[in-house]
Amino acid sequence: MRRIAVTNQKGGVGKTTTTVNLGAALAHLGQRVLVCDFDPQCNLTVHLDVDPASEAPNLYDLLHGRASLSEVALATEHERLWVAPAGVDLAGVELELANEVGRETILGRALDADAAQGGESYDILLVDCPPSLGLLSLNALVACEEVLVPIQAEFFALQGLGKLLEVVGLVQQRLNPKLRISCLVSCRYDPSTNLSRAVIADVREHFGEILAETVIRRNVKLAEAPSHGKTIFAYAPDSRGAQDYLSLARELLGAVAGAAPQPTPATTKGPETTEERPTEDGAEKAEAVQEVPGAGANGAARPESKGAPAAAPAAEPEAKAEPEAASHGRRTRSAAATRSSTRRPSSSASADRAAADAPVAQASAPKGAEAEESGEASGG
Ligand SMILES: Nc1ncnc2c1ncn2[C@@H]1O[C@H](COP(=O)(O)OP(=O)(O)OP(=O)(O)O)[C@@H](O)[C@H]1O
Ligand SMILES: [Mg+2]
Repeated sequence: MRRIAVTNQKGGVGKTTTTVNLGAALAHLGQRVLVCDFDPQCNLTVHLDVDPASEAPNLYDLLHGRASLSEVALATEHERLWVAPAGVDLAGVELELANEVGRETILGRALDADAAQGGESYDILLVDCPPSLGLLSLNALVACEEVLVPIQAEFFALQGLGKLLEVVGLVQQRLNPKLRISCLVSCRYDPSTNLSRAVIADVREHFGEILAETVIRRNVKLAEAPSHGKTIFAYAPDSRGAQDYLSLARELLGAVAGAAPQPTPATTKGPETTEERPTEDGAEKAEAVQEVPGAGANGAARPESKGAPAAAPAAEPEAKAEPEAASHGRRTRSAAATRSSTRRPSSSASADRAAADAPVAQASAPKGAEAEESGEASGG
């Protein structure tokens, strides 16, 4: 099983959106995927229509040794996609486990125990981490071999990455020698701004080897899907968001080419110029924009020297669920009633934390672009 921690202590960069929709895309491509919600905000749990206030066992119980992974994992409406939900009590777990010996290895041990006991066999685990580098993130980094870091193509994109690299290095040295940052993914990318392109070019200069070719463009359907308790593939399978996450999933599987059954070829759509009327933060410019000259398959600035681009994103029909959901023997717990009350603006938790981060040396802001398009960039 590939174990991937999706982390960035910067808030609101797209960790949860990526975990949910990349997980669904990987499942759609034939992988058996478990997504874990390790964030007390419970955003992923709600996104997948599970009630974080439910009495059923969740990751809080697992961390306290009261439940096994197989007791916690639930089938979703997607075939081959399971979720290990968070509970509202998860917020207290760092304090509660403060004196527990081996507290940073609990998730890893639970995964190993589940495998040893012949639990559900997953091909890929994705752990959605909170916007902090505390005990929950540490558990994910100790349990996983790979780190996927969503970043946002904005002025502060690289601020905080230095701290994350430092923590990953420390975990690697002391607790988990297999750990490596395998992928940076540009999320909420707006191909219409020079700022986005300049930031990504800057990131590519510093982290070119691990920056994903695929970018996840701003897409209002991605922002709307959580309020319906659905992945982008259930909510808007023809949207750019679905195309981008499928492209990312294919790229992620590239390292193990041939391992995944290929899906039925999808109808290739032209640029979506009238897809949706966004409802938030200037995303409209990105939604309707034409491809930028010199941009990659889905809009990223891309150097000529790079290898073959990731497969062009294509909308694919939603994989209909149920056989495995039924055989899993459990029903998902509906969060419809609590979605509105439990969700909160994800960026709110992060401002002070981001400010405390050590900036990466020479994580240069694209000053020229900033001067050139500051109005546009600030609008989203
Ligand atoms: N590509 C996108 N296009 C439009 N909106 C997006 C996109 N990706 C994420 N969003 C929205 O941006 C907000 C933040 O995304 P998300 O919750 O995934 O970030 P996060 O890193 O998990 O946040 P936190 O650090 O609080 O956990 C959400 O409202 C989400 O719906
Ligand atoms: Mg999140």
